[in-house]
Amino acid sequence: MKLSSTIILCFLFCAFIAFSQEPIKITVENQKPEVTVASNMYGIFFEDINFAADGGLYAELVKNRSFDFPNSPFMGWTSYGKVEVKTDGAPFPRNPHYLRLNNPGLLTGTGIINEGFRGIGVVKDAKYNLSLYARKISAGEVKLKTEIISAAGEIIAKGEIEVTSSDWKKYKIEFQTKETCSHSKLRIDLVTKGEVDVEHISMFPADTWKGRENGMRKDLAQALSDLKPGVFRFPGGCIIEGNNLETRYQWKNSVGPVENRPVNENRWNYVFQHRFTPDYFQSYGLGFFEYFQLCEDFGADALPVVSCGMACQFVTEECVHGEDLEPFIQDALDLIEFANGPVTSTWGKVRAEMGHPAPFGMKYIGIGNEQWGEVFPKHLEAFQKAIKAKYPEIQIIGSSGPYAEGEQFDYLWGEMKKLNVELVDEHYYKDPKWFLENAGRYDNYSRKGPKVFAGEYACHVQPEKKNSFYSALCEAAFLTGIERNADVVRLATYAPLFAHVDAWQWKPDMIWFDNLRSVKSANWYVQKLYAHYPGTHVQKVKMNGENVTGQQGIYASVATDENKKQLVIKIVNTGKSKKNILFNLNLKGLPNELKGKKITLKAGLDDENTLDEPFLVQPSESEVLFFSSGLNISIAPESFNVLVLGL
Ligand code: AHR
Repeated sequence: MKLSSTIILCFLFCAFIAFSQEPIKITVENQKPEVTVASNMYGIFFEDINFAADGGLYAELVKNRSFDFPNSPFMGWTSYGKVEVKTDGAPFPRNPHYLRLNNPGLLTGTGIINEGFRGIGVVKDAKYNLSLYARKISAGEVKLKTEIISAAGEIIAKGEIEVTSSDWKKYKIEFQTKETCSHSKLRIDLVTKGEVDVEHISMFPADTWKGRENGMRKDLAQALSDLKPGVFRFPGGCIIEGNNLETRYQWKNSVGPVENRPVNENRWNYVFQHRFTPDYFQSYGLGFFEYFQLCEDFGADALPVVSCGMACQFVTEECVHGEDLEPFIQDALDLIEFANGPVTSTWGKVRAEMGHPAPFGMKYIGIGNEQWGEVFPKHLEAFQKAIKAKYPEIQIIGSSGPYAEGEQFDYLWGEMKKLNVELVDEHYYKDPKWFLENAGRYDNYSRKGPKVFAGEYACHVQPEKKNSFYSALCEAAFLTGIERNADVVRLATYAPLFAHVDAWQWKPDMIWFDNLRSVKSANWYVQKLYAHYPGTHVQKVKMNGENVTGQQGIYASVATDENKKQLVIKIVNTGKSKKNILFNLNLKGLPNELKGKKITLKAGLDDENTLDEPFLVQPSESEVLFFSSGLNISIAPESFNVLVLGL
């Protein structure tokens, strides 16, 4: 009895303290807003890291489908019986390896088994399209048995292909699986006596994003689409630079028929000793055409990045000089023609032949990624001159290097200003303290010259670098500063985007997946809230005459949306106690009492959405009443809130 009355008294005392607390006053100045928010401000950055493309978004289920992994034609495959690698008379010259299967008539048979990307994920009753190229070498009947084998060793789908021609021909078969299995295998068995050649063995779920052949994994593409990204930067990152120039991302290799897109090494295969991924290659099945198509699907502006003639400086000093830079510049010019040129142009024709005669409307190009030193600005200048001479409307994105501050950062910014590029890419993978202390980072940036593209950022909480709610909260706080300075920061993209739980090299990442499931991180929800409620005009908002950048743990920004007639307040409380906030809204000419909504993202600081617990961190919505004069609201401790008030 005694204990419970003490508890009640304590509770009443705390409630009294909380309610009697003097509210924190925040004033929305509501002057004529001068700063507009770019309509494409919040976007996505795709890099083929962590199996993001092959084994991830790209829905191909067969690894090393063309037997062209450099020096390892059998990687991903197990063979039995008599199986030989050959190249003579190959149907796809840029992927020259194929297999010859010979069954001398032994009962043990001859065949190959593909392990997929850390297994092949299949779903009960779902359909899968298997295709392969084959030619008969021996006379008589040639039959291939095709099977999906579950992790338990059961045959869960089967079919048969009769190879009828001695010329290379594409054969297709549809599977329906009897069971769900995240780690199945594909077996192709030559059941008749004799010889056959096989090449480009591919299997896709029938149900891809928008039902496309050579399509994307539906849940992963949907997770991107649901963000409503305004801009889409691709294909990387370090991936565009390569571990050396030979293995840089070359967009021309990523277009045209998929069978003939040459396999390339992945930049992330051996980079981290603790996360070696020797089976990481790029099939380029997800290539530049597909990237542009995804941009169109999402309503996002395409922001392709090309090599500036310098390989990844974290790995090598390899770089071209003098006239050797010309082909790199030509690649950039041709890319613009591929995206925007008429169907009568060389590269516009390639786009049209791939099924998209209309231009993609590309506006931006990134030259180089995290470059530093004196060569980069020189290279960039040469690109800029050539691009502007032919395509003056294209906006060029330069770089401030890999770090958010320091000597190189200052030097490169100086050079970017001299060149007057439209945007400068800034990257910051930093700890929570940095994110919170930098909410005012852009308040004093120069309003003249290049704008900022926050092209890669994520809050890294040591030691595990989880996609914890705390990391997302710090990003939300930081983003209030980006929104407040929307005249300086025109684009922002979190990084990286995807990670396979069994094949990652880097974390945190925005969306995690295995072969069948995916999960949106707390960080994804922050991005979504910003991208869904960007507003169109920034309002000045002050606490005691200052920008709201962490005083008493509060971070805030306000924007009006002139199209939706809304006032959108983003407010983060990083403090351990609830805060009563009195917003002075200064709205004029409105009915007295209005309804709005409050969307709150709140969870334990260490909470993280996982495949097994995907909705631990997710927003909740409630109604709020506000008045033309103001809004009195209580903001939960350690929470991110978006208040959407209809005007
Ligand atoms: O996003 C991962 C990597 O981080 C990018 O490739 C690179 O630009 C940065 O160093």
